[in-house]
Amino acid sequence: MRPRHAGWVIDGTVGMGGHAEAMLSGAVDDVRLLGLDRDPEALRRAGERLAPFGARVRLTQASFRDISDVARAEGAAVVRAILLDLGISSHQIDESGRGFTFQEDQPLDMRMDPEAAETAAGLVNGRPEEELARIIFEYGEEIHARRIARTIVRRRPLATTGDLVAAVRSAVPRKAWPRRLHVATKTFQAVRMAVNDETGALRHALPHAAALLDSGARLGVISFHSGEDRIVKHAFRSLKTAGYAELEPSPLTPGDDEVRANPRARSAKLRVLERLP
Ligand SMILES: C[S@@+](CC[C@H](N)C(=O)[O-])C[C@H]1O[C@@H](n2cnc3c(N)ncnc32)[C@H](O)[C@@H]1O
Repeated sequence: MRPRHAGWVIDGTVGMGGHAEAMLSGAVDDVRLLGLDRDPEALRRAGERLAPFGARVRLTQASFRDISDVARAEGAAVVRAILLDLGISSHQIDESGRGFTFQEDQPLDMRMDPEAAETAAGLVNGRPEEELARIIFEYGEEIHARRIARTIVRRRPLATTGDLVAAVRSAVPRKAWPRRLHVATKTFQAVRMAVNDETGALRHALPHAAALLDSGARLGVISFHSGEDRIVKHAFRSLKTAGYAELEPSPLTPGDDEVRANPRARSAKLRVLERLP
């Protein structure tokens, strides 16, 4: 992912700038980076971290769904690498106070972009039971989705993360609670993915991102959810006949040491697509 020739790197999920810093550090001097994030607080943090690179870095609040328009608007013509590191960042979970965690009682918000239209409270209080069940089953892969949706509807209105945790705890029989995960983990993931239309953005972005790549350039996608990895796998497969190749036949995953050092990496999968010369 570190370009050896002049041009642009686009980090579509710049977050706290860790990957952006790594990609720029090893690259030749005339590589520039365009960093996108939906969260203004993430951009502020990325800005601090990437300050040593000065004018080589441009940061923009945008969804990677609009990667083509943003690249055009910023004049990123020759694109050498694009990275999408999906989901939320540690700071959003631990420090944002926006309801991404079930460890504390916070307002049920979960919007990555604080200006976005629908909050998690709006979703759980406003959608029909059937739809909530589908969201929790599909995005959370939660087998108790129906019971959870029914309990949420019965307990409306829900205002805080504590209300959502309490609904899940009362819906799932105690003997069925998972041993390693918090009982509400899957429901929280599902609601967050729906609030931010995470799979919709990914599905839309992949062909546009691939089309931006210069010859020999790479698109890397790190996913943390089997549904997302499936979307990436199928999109990359359909591009194989259009002048692209996937670098490895199966996704790269972290080794034991990495998972020990950073348990949040445990479900990460990296797929890389290259545009053939
Ligand atoms: C896993 S973190 C990325 C961490 C980053 N790679 C780093 O090194 O710090 C994912 C980030 O992507 C952002 N994000 C998620 N979906 C997005 C989208 N559709 N468009 C832009 N940013 C998005 C989140 O706000 C979050 O900051």
